Amino acid sequence: MRRTTKSQQVARVLFSEAQLSAMVGRVAREIERDYRALGEPPVLLGVLNGSVVFLSDLMRALEIPCDVDFVAVQSYRGERSTGAPQLRLSPKTPLAGRHVLVVEDILDTGVTLSYLCREYLPQFDAASVKLCALLDKPSRRLPGAVCADYAGAVIPDLFVVGYGLDYDEAYRDLPYIGVLSGAPEHKE
Ligand code: IMP
Ligand code: MG
Repeated sequence: MRRTTKSQQVARVLFSEAQLSAMVGRVAREIERDYRALGEPPVLLGVLNGSVVFLSDLMRALEIPCDVDFVAVQSYRGERSTGAPQLRLSPKTPLAGRHVLVVEDILDTGVTLSYLCREYLPQFDAASVKLCALLDKPSRRLPGAVCADYAGAVIPDLFVVGYGLDYDEAYRDLPYIGVLSGAPEHKE
């Protein structure tokens, strides 16, 4: 889906910049409360590429110190959905004994985050692993998949773009979250 202007093909705005800012602030207050009680700064582990905008706002909204690192996971989808997710970039920060907060743009089927939390991250012996997703789309969640410990908003089964979320790598740069016109019911 090609576009020539930023808002082209966005049928409607689901969350404005102001709403996203309020959402990030709410999530940041919850995270602060929990991690202050633990007394140790968390490692925010962003899942590339979709989490970068959310993560950069979240880390600035947090009033507790935190470290930041990234992972990248290749998820196979649609006609390629036969394979399991594969790790493409590993974190550089030693995670042993640390409180790890995985930061993701959207939790959909849960395949990606279930793989990260249950198969990949346990080898590092982190003190704890929790999940923070800007958006939670529970309608397509697979049975037994992980849940978000922190979520900015729960949304219905819409395909959304902007604020880091893409459709074929486009639209990540939109400052708001929108629903595409003629958007797929869900990604394939
Ligand atoms: P899951 O493994 O099915 O939970 O998928 C998570 C990944 O799918 C997210 O990190 C996104 O990259 C992508 N995804 C799921 N729903 C959407 C959407 O509505 N818009 C853009 N990307 C999405
Ligand atoms: Mg993603």
